[in-house]
Amino acid sequence: MSETALPKRVAVVTGGIGGLGTAICRQLAQAGCKVIAVDLAARDERVVAFHQELAAFNGAITFEAADVSNFDDCLQLTARIEQEHGSIDVLVNAAGITRDASLRKMSPQQWHELMRVNLDGVFNMCRNVVDGMTTRGFGRIVNISSVNGQTGQFGQTNYSAAKAGVHGFSMALARETARKGVTVNTVSPGYCDTPMVAAVADDIRAQIIADIPVGRLGAPADIARAVNFLAADDAGYITGINLPVNGGYFMSF
Ligand code: CAA
Repeated sequence: MSETALPKRVAVVTGGIGGLGTAICRQLAQAGCKVIAVDLAARDERVVAFHQELAAFNGAITFEAADVSNFDDCLQLTARIEQEHGSIDVLVNAAGITRDASLRKMSPQQWHELMRVNLDGVFNMCRNVVDGMTTRGFGRIVNISSVNGQTGQFGQTNYSAAKAGVHGFSMALARETARKGVTVNTVSPGYCDTPMVAAVADDIRAQIIADIPVGRLGAPADIARAVNFLAADDAGYITGINLPVNGGYFMSF
């Protein structure tokens, strides 16, 4: 390695074969990272398709099965990756689900299932990488929130609460790790061209798109570029921020 070359970073992306996760894996691999996509084991067909889509990366992106809602799964996963690759330098928490229903119709199961993935999952992964990152003096954590964590959305009390919680978590952890070379930031996507958004009823989705100033759904690559920016070695002075990428759907200062 020449004196100026950056070390090859090891990046873990949860929800790694999902709508946003696949694009994030691709972008980080293009930036020179060794990428481990983490997702549920059950989605076998999607794993095959994922490998086909990303075959051009020739082993720079590999797949590991784990359930982020299970602390012990995350403990074993991170230990396995650190043993094999030496470190986890970048963690992107992109695993997320929806369980949409207005509150008057929402079951405790819809609430708890969502919290376990969207919020506990962030704790379970961060808790298991943070010691290694602070000990080595380098880490980049990017947590995927949502515009709906900033604005609230009809039918999403669970999702909006979890996604707002994700940014609170990021800010607190950013303070805890700021002097140890570890940054923690949030990216809040707007409505993107993913299966999650495709599942919204056609008329509601059409109205949402009509309200996006840029006039279209976000592309997963739009989100991946923001993640890559925050995950870079030279982004060390940016921590605790929420970077909205939503086509102007929600603006604040
Ligand atoms: N705003 C205001 N009123 C609404 C409404 C809305 N968005 N949606 C429904 N209502 C009204 C209806 O007109 C109806 O009114 P009346 O009773 O006066 O007739 C009433 O509320 C119906 O209430 P229900 O509790 O029966 O709602 P529902 O079961 O018909 O629909 C829902 C609930 C399926 C959740 C639906 O509101 C919906 O799909 N909302 C959008 C959810 C959404 O945007 N999800 C995003 C998923 S993608 C994602 O989350 C990614 C990301 O990060 C951006």
